[in-house]
Amino acid sequence: MVSAVNDEQRRRLREHLASVYACGQLVDANGQRRSISPSGMPMASGNALRDLILAEGATETLEVGLALGLSTLHICDALMEHPDSGRHTAIDPLEESNFGNAGLMSLERAGVRDLVEHIDLSSDLALPELLRDRRGEFDFALVDGAHWFDYAFLDAFFCMQLVRPGGVVVLDDTWMPGPRLAARYLALNLGCTVIPGVLPQTRLLGRRGQLQPHWPHMTALRTPVQGAFARDRDAFVPFHDPHVSVRARLAGLGRSARRRLGSRGQ
Ligand SMILES: C[S@@+](CC[C@H](N)C(=O)[O-])C[C@H]1O[C@@H](n2cnc3c(N)ncnc32)[C@H](O)[C@@H]1O
Repeated sequence: MVSAVNDEQRRRLREHLASVYACGQLVDANGQRRSISPSGMPMASGNALRDLILAEGATETLEVGLALGLSTLHICDALMEHPDSGRHTAIDPLEESNFGNAGLMSLERAGVRDLVEHIDLSSDLALPELLRDRRGEFDFALVDGAHWFDYAFLDAFFCMQLVRPGGVVVLDDTWMPGPRLAARYLALNLGCTVIPGVLPQTRLLGRRGQLQPHWPHMTALRTPVQGAFARDRDAFVPFHDPHVSVRARLAGLGRSARRRLGSRGQ
């Protein structure tokens, strides 16, 4: 049962969150104001994330990409359901240099700094290090760090091993090619299943159950109960999305090249 003290903490957290979204800014450790846009998680996504964690009954959560800590606050909101056991681990090597510790300050103001362990390392160092001692110990992980395919894939791959079999890995920004292809690889090759309908704009499966070419902002995957490695040695399902590759190629060309191509009518 949730105690009165916890209700009070949750009220403080929610008031803080509401005020942050209302003014669109956070104050960093140097007293400087920082806009929550564009990197901060929108409120609707954060609420959906909180509800998913609550529905899963998750108590051990993990996140790559703390930034201004908006997703972290929503995760902490869900963890307050378990006042004695909820714990969150958030990885971000740029918290001080890029955000002036505004995310950590915000957690402090919301009264949840004690719930969160911040790992000040790049995910490609932090996640394998966590795997040494904490394989399968997490119930839930959010991947919202660097969005190139290589990082998104490595983050998701390590996270799915840090999460228990049957746990949940959410990739944010699967409208972008890197996270989307990483999610496709996990779904098509590593036995993860898409959890439909829990996150905003989730329209993942076509009429015949196939993966959609247009993916939503966030994608929730359930990790396989039998583990990721119950497959043949030479198993491989192509996961490339032709629709993504055309858009990604155009995006990679840069604006001026796109304009040149556009002016030639290509
Ligand atoms: C889109 S922001 C995260 C937003 C955050 N989840 C929120 O809702 O406020 C992406 C974050 O990933 C972090 N990041 C970039 N490269 C990273 C890496 N190699 N390891 C961990 N985090 C990384 C950046 O510092 C940035 O804070």
